Amino acid sequence: MKNVLSGIQPTGDLHLGNYFGAVKNWVKLQSEYKCHFSVVDYHSMTMPYNPIQLRENTWKMAFYLLACGVKLENLFIQSLVPEHLELAWVLGSTASYGELTRMTQFKDKTDQLKESDKDAFVSVGLFSYPVLQAADILIYHAEYVPVGKDQEQHLELSRNIAQRFNNQFGKEYFVQPEPLFTETPKILSPADPTRKMSKSLGEKHYINLFGEEDRVRKQIKSAVTDTGDTPEGEMSAGVGNLFELLRACEQMEAHDSLMDDYKAGALRYSDLKEAVANAIVDLINPFKERYEAILADKKAVKGQIQESSAAIRQIARQTMREVREITGLPTLRS
Ligand code: TRP
Repeated sequence: MKNVLSGIQPTGDLHLGNYFGAVKNWVKLQSEYKCHFSVVDYHSMTMPYNPIQLRENTWKMAFYLLACGVKLENLFIQSLVPEHLELAWVLGSTASYGELTRMTQFKDKTDQLKESDKDAFVSVGLFSYPVLQAADILIYHAEYVPVGKDQEQHLELSRNIAQRFNNQFGKEYFVQPEPLFTETPKILSPADPTRKMSKSLGEKHYINLFGEEDRVRKQIKSAVTDTGDTPEGEMSAGVGNLFELLRACEQMEAHDSLMDDYKAGALRYSDLKEAVANAIVDLINPFKERYEAILADKKAVKGQIQESSAAIRQIARQTMREVREITGLPTLRS
């Protein structure tokens, strides 16, 4: 079985966009690949953050992933495998300064920081972030990395780093990872369907996968349908998004019949919204139940995640033993 690795930052809530764009696919990949999925808490230290929240969000994200169907043995917390950082240091000398300055995510995040304060502090961590990401992937010799298009550049960097390392040391050691782009539905903000569903836009712009049913229903009820600038004869972005949600929730019967209404010019938005709200509630209820069960047994589940992280760490340690050998570092006393 080929290896897959992916990571998600512990950002707090997990929303429908995250679920349909990544997590749902991760769960599926587990039957075809040897998978490792990481809550990348080290990565979240590169932007201003609160330590209490970081720890809380890290566990919460791990619980969410379990509740969505990620298998325990495939799940780990990045910082519980500190070898990622050791490899990142080694790879830091394999990536070039120029290359890193061309990373668009670095530029975007720098701009984001400078928006509120033009003299904002931009950390070395934010700059070298993609090197740590390369280490996350290469340390498990992952062949495939399921990511969104926004991570394409980071993946390319990971491949370049692997190849350069192999050339430098005259050995085909690291696998060059390939991105695994899968067709995923593009979910838009219900409050502003010209933009992607995203946490950074604010609370009304995303539907929380673990949110209250009432709130979900209200959000769908007040979802923007007409923005006024839709060309004649075209479906507005907001209505399109509601249909997309039905498709994503695999409610094809409701989808097709409402689409017939739409085509006949007889669609009532309230019917569409009702169907979408029901579909979402049906989707998220089992996740929420599993999450509640995890919370009821929080301490034990934390222990299990620590164990799975420790087991996965063994792979990373083996890689680091080999990397130390290849790069001229002395052997650790075991
Ligand atoms: N940079 C990714 C993001 O912002 C998260 C991430 C960190 C990641 N390490 C990874 C994704 C390794 C895939 C593989 O979404």
